[in-house]
Amino acid sequence: MLDNDFHPAWLPDAALQTVGSRRLALRSPDDEAGVPVGSSSRDRQLEGPIATEHTDRSSSRRTDRAVLATLSAELDRATRAHGGAVVGHDDEPDLLLALDPADPAPAEPAEPAGYRLLRAAGRVTVTADHPTSLLHGWFHVVRLGAVAFDGPDTDEHHAPVSALRMLDHWDNVDVHPVMGQVERGYAGGSIFYDAGHVRADLSRVTTYARLLAAVGIDRVAINNVNVAAREARLLTDDLPEVARIAAALRPYGVRTHLSVSFASPVTLGGLPTSDPLDPAVRTWWRDAADVVWRAVPDFGGFVVKADSEGQPGPFAHGRDHADGANMLAEAVAPHGGLVHWRAFVYNHTQDWRDRTTDRARAAHDHFAPLDGRFAGNVVVQVKHGPVDFQVREPVSPVLAAMPRTRVALELQVTQEYTGQQRHAVYLGPAWSEILRWQPWGDAAGPDDAPDGGAPVTVADLASGRGPGGQGGGIAAVSNVGDDRFWTGHPLAQANLYAFGRLAWDPALDPPAVLDEWIDLTFPGAPAELRAAVHAILDESWHTYELYTAPLGIGFMVRPGHHYGPDVDGYEYTPWGTYHFADRDGIGVDRTRATGTGYTGQYPAPWREVYESLDSCPDELLLFFHHVPYTHVLHSGKTVVQHVYDTHFEGVERVERMVERWEDVAGLVPDDVARRVSDRLTEQRRSAVEWRDQVTTYFWRKSGIPDEQGRTIY
Ligand code: GCU
Repeated sequence: MLDNDFHPAWLPDAALQTVGSRRLALRSPDDEAGVPVGSSSRDRQLEGPIATEHTDRSSSRRTDRAVLATLSAELDRATRAHGGAVVGHDDEPDLLLALDPADPAPAEPAEPAGYRLLRAAGRVTVTADHPTSLLHGWFHVVRLGAVAFDGPDTDEHHAPVSALRMLDHWDNVDVHPVMGQVERGYAGGSIFYDAGHVRADLSRVTTYARLLAAVGIDRVAINNVNVAAREARLLTDDLPEVARIAAALRPYGVRTHLSVSFASPVTLGGLPTSDPLDPAVRTWWRDAADVVWRAVPDFGGFVVKADSEGQPGPFAHGRDHADGANMLAEAVAPHGGLVHWRAFVYNHTQDWRDRTTDRARAAHDHFAPLDGRFAGNVVVQVKHGPVDFQVREPVSPVLAAMPRTRVALELQVTQEYTGQQRHAVYLGPAWSEILRWQPWGDAAGPDDAPDGGAPVTVADLASGRGPGGQGGGIAAVSNVGDDRFWTGHPLAQANLYAFGRLAWDPALDPPAVLDEWIDLTFPGAPAELRAAVHAILDESWHTYELYTAPLGIGFMVRPGHHYGPDVDGYEYTPWGTYHFADRDGIGVDRTRATGTGYTGQYPAPWREVYESLDSCPDELLLFFHHVPYTHVLHSGKTVVQHVYDTHFEGVERVERMVERWEDVAGLVPDDVARRVSDRLTEQRRSAVEWRDQVTTYFWRKSGIPDEQGRTIY
């Protein structure tokens, strides 16, 4: 059930107290022309669900006016709640938000590109040339609170590092018999759909867009990448409904994208083929795109999962992924649209007996050879690791292998493999590590010596600052549903918050981002609460790693739903996720010397670092090497003793998390306290289950006892 009594997440009214108690003003060029924001008949026309006639100019105007009206309403709401006032812009406001477009109605809609914050003698002026940027600037001031006004005079420019920051919803329109309303959703049903329909009341979608705007996210894909028959129709019959969702997201500057089925020309259009080189297929997609943009003039584009886990794609027609993506790119190009084409392509019907096929190799094998062939409006979206969002994987080598392609990094905010929002796992540190990872070590790129310039990071590659300069931005799978707390576990809100903030600025420090989230979510939080939330979350990713699959081996989860331990659950399946444990040892040999050769997909120095047992980092050892249980890690422990020690330590840490929460639960609202306590109880139960199954498995396989003689079954 979706009701209006949901948790305000990081925007409770109290979070706006500092700004709301001041004198605020909003200035846009139209004011000077005597047209107050949100009041003209033209605005009302632009706010209608479907525009009858479309130009780029009118579509960007539509979004602009909607966002300006929102800002105006934000100022009213904050001042009404906290006793401030909205004043004229020349009336000495404490905070002036000024839209200062270089060109008030550009022919091509520009990407929002940040804002300038000026503080002089306690008065703050935020200027931007795009309403969405001004909105982001407003939420920046909200986030800063008193510091925004009390700090020393300053003149700062704030811009997102990546122009493209997007959330992908794996929401189904129809409830899927196995996956439910939201695939890998751990927060109830969908905020968009309910049992076969787009919800009549989409007000919560607008509230969601507000939360996203406050962290700088401005694109959302609204349906599952696995596009079933019902969901495929969002592209055609359901466009008026898609337009309603877009209208609900638009006031906060969030643009709508759709996942589409590559087979649509056949399944929806009645054509005999979906061959991307067939002229009739190309025409079908061009026409489909024209209709979509007529319905939603500021539509963002298409997301495609093709030739992956049963989804249709170009392979059936003897074509490759560049052929497929470029055909769609051609269809959306006249509208300034994007195609997010996922690189998550592998053989999911593998023979477990075959040790030469390596799922980790697949994305690079398929996509790296296509570098240079993708159109400029195609974004190749690459999962952060080569397998599937495990708690620990090396960074995907594909990100560094396509300098002539716009490559996006894909993260998973929904905690499919990291505790499914029943375990408190703050993923900010994991993402920060990925974003800061340097594919060429200390060198700036493939042809540079280590001292040839600043080392390039994954964040650089995603934002177009790497070799080739072709950024595709950052995308992530959303963790939001119709749950009262949005994310099931109230502490999982911090992951959504951190994703937005790190996508905006990958250099941010995850504990500092957590502080922002605490300040906003629990305004006036006492020091004990802050300390406890840090104690619970700062190291929680590592804690989860300690009690689950060890040393980068991954999986060991229950097949299907992926929750809880099942060490051999995937070992004899077609999915390509094996650990190869026998009585002597465990791990996947991915070396060039004796294994699958996956290490060769990395540039230097990593191809050598991972290849050698001497230099491979402990936490990834079993990802890259098959070793005896007695192999001694860099830490000085054997593999098997490491498994015992980490699993006992992991559970002890969870016990401390539970205690820390009990100490401070009285400092938060009852409903939050209860939900977090319930989830921590389950986390403790599950962590014990993980510990006991994994330690017992290693003991039974190896026959090597725990040096400390702890209970193993
Ligand atoms: C994982 C997940 C699937 C999802 C897939 C994807 O395999 O379990 O539910 O469809 O990733 O990213 O497409």
